Amino acid sequence: MADHTHSTPPAGRVIRSQITGIGAYLPRSLVSNDELAQRVDTSDAWIRERTGIRQRYFAEPDESCAFMATEAARIALADAGIAGDAVDAIILATATPDQAFPATAVRVQAALGAKGFAFDLSAACSGFIYALTTADALIRAGQARNVLVIGSEVYSRIMNWEDRGTCVLFGDGAGAVLLQAGDGDGSHADRGILSAHMHAQGDLGDILYVDGAVGRPDRPGHLVMHGREVFRHAVAKLSETVQQTLSHCGLTVADIDWLVPHQANMRIIDGVGKRLGIPAARVVVTVDQHANTSAASVPLALHAAYSDGRIKRGQLVLMEALGGGLTWGSALVRL
Ligand code: UT7
Repeated sequence: MADHTHSTPPAGRVIRSQITGIGAYLPRSLVSNDELAQRVDTSDAWIRERTGIRQRYFAEPDESCAFMATEAARIALADAGIAGDAVDAIILATATPDQAFPATAVRVQAALGAKGFAFDLSAACSGFIYALTTADALIRAGQARNVLVIGSEVYSRIMNWEDRGTCVLFGDGAGAVLLQAGDGDGSHADRGILSAHMHAQGDLGDILYVDGAVGRPDRPGHLVMHGREVFRHAVAKLSETVQQTLSHCGLTVADIDWLVPHQANMRIIDGVGKRLGIPAARVVVTVDQHANTSAASVPLALHAAYSDGRIKRGQLVLMEALGGGLTWGSALVRL
């Protein structure tokens, strides 16, 4: 494999991480709110009113985190016209890996015949933004040129089915993008990631967490959430990080073609859109179809709007997410 460690762009040019392929995978089993209400004390009306969710997909036993990630990655690679062995790094964001180790990312690497290095990244629902930001930094540092960035989650396996306040909110799935090193003149007209930012506030770690781990056989772990508190932080922190990412490039909300937000709750998506002054027609919404798929939510939404032709090459797309940690972040990309 070529050593890219010291590659530098030509004079007057900068390295840009460009999204050249986008893929997604949804499990075979679709579960409507009404179907869920047969096993949980809830109703379609409550779920739709409070969250906007109408349905979600749940993985079957053979649809592991690695399997879904691999399927999404294959679609992203086909979209980019790149073979698996040209991939030189994989960063996979997940809170629901198949094993404590090896990383789910190396299972994907083996399945695709990819080269280089591969690792998992844990930042809950912000995982994809964290992974994208990390991949961008690695590409610009010359450490890799063709990086798969994947979010893959099987939250149905960490749900507490006795807690109706959380188990109706989540779904399973995977999304992936291929990031490739390209170049630009350093302006916001460049194609690629223009600005990306990550944040964490560890003293809010106990408002959204899993109460166990793979290393705790007595307690494999269920998701616990203080929903109102998370909600309170979400709108403020997400709006702030979007503004930060835009002002870093000397841009404003008016310049964005699409906002692709984390899909946790329609009320949060609306709240951020209103606070920023982005018309609803420019906001991609999939929470009604997928529910909250954590680290897979942003790439699944990106893929939905890209594959139906709404998001086009050359457009300016702002992605944001917030999740357990608390962690949050945003990334501005010209597709
Ligand atoms: O991706 C990570 C980020 N996560 C989020 O962004 C989630 C943020 N939080 C939220 O989206 C909302 O707080 C929830 C959707 C989780 C909850 O909405 P809420 O309006 O804050 O409802 P609540 O928890 O205050 O519950 C209101 C009522 C309660 O009944 P009482 O005490 O008023 O009689 C709950 O027992 O709704 C009841 N309830 C339900 N009823 C039917 C809670 N869950 C359900 C349910 N079905 N599934």
